Amino acid sequence: MTADPVLLITGASSGIGAASARHAVAAGWRVVLAARSHERLLELAAELGGPARALAVRCDVTEWEDQQQMVEQALAAFGHLDAAFANAGFGGPRGFLSDTVEHWREMVLTNVYGAALTIRACVPALKDSRGHLLLTSSVAGRRALPGSLYSCTKHAVTAMGEAARQDLNGTGVRVTLIEPGMTDTPFFDQRPTDALQDEDIARAVIYALSQPPHVDVNEILIRPTAQPL
Ligand SMILES: NC(=O)c1ccc[n+]([C@@H]2O[C@H](COP(=O)([O-])OP(=O)(O)OC[C@H]3O[C@@H](n4cnc5c(N)ncnc54)[C@H](OP(=O)(O)O)[C@@H]3O)[C@@H](O)[C@H]2O)c1
Repeated sequence: MTADPVLLITGASSGIGAASARHAVAAGWRVVLAARSHERLLELAAELGGPARALAVRCDVTEWEDQQQMVEQALAAFGHLDAAFANAGFGGPRGFLSDTVEHWREMVLTNVYGAALTIRACVPALKDSRGHLLLTSSVAGRRALPGSLYSCTKHAVTAMGEAARQDLNGTGVRVTLIEPGMTDTPFFDQRPTDALQDEDIARAVIYALSQPPHVDVNEILIRPTAQPL
């Protein structure tokens, strides 16, 4: 087994999570790829060098048992965890009379409860390694958008980042909030123009991860140059 550090990513089957995995492996990390789409994770893990470099784990972040076995599999494969990126999430139509209540429920459970479960599942291992926790919030987690329950979920993630930072102070664990503006990923049914690319966010993730242990990059807010709000 190599001594290369280990990064676990939820929402790794697509978009920002998959791009972060590619950049992390290029920067010398081993990765644990978690999401519900196991086939896509297996393809990405093969692309990234197979079992020595990348482990694919099926995990629905809204299920505590899935999150526990995700960390157990990571530790069994690689022995320790140096960083965890709680990135899984999705949006929905704006308007408190739009969308369905069932979709609202899934979104709140995934974006808020799921991120909290990832923290809970990973923190013991991160304390052992004096590691690094990252969370994907959003520009929408910094300013409310009209009628957007998604924006409310991302405000919760922003608060979770600061709450975790204070909770973990003194343990050596660093906490970073990644706050992307509009990024061209499958997040959108109609793909945006003049948007960031997933690798633009991945570079920010690697920047935060590559600081020396005494430096905690708390928040990175990134908009495309063309985004007004
Ligand atoms: N794109 C943007 O403009 C933008 C801006 C700000 C913030 N963000 C945030 O960035 C994060 C990544 O989104 P993206 O833009 O990269 O979109 P994406 O390409 O659609 O990726 C979303 C990822 O979340 C995973 N996911 C969704 N529900 C899940 C669940 N219950 N359990 C496990 N994994 C789940 C998906 O995998 P499976 O479907 O395989 O489970 C997928 O890997 C999200 O938190 C999103 O809110 C995006």
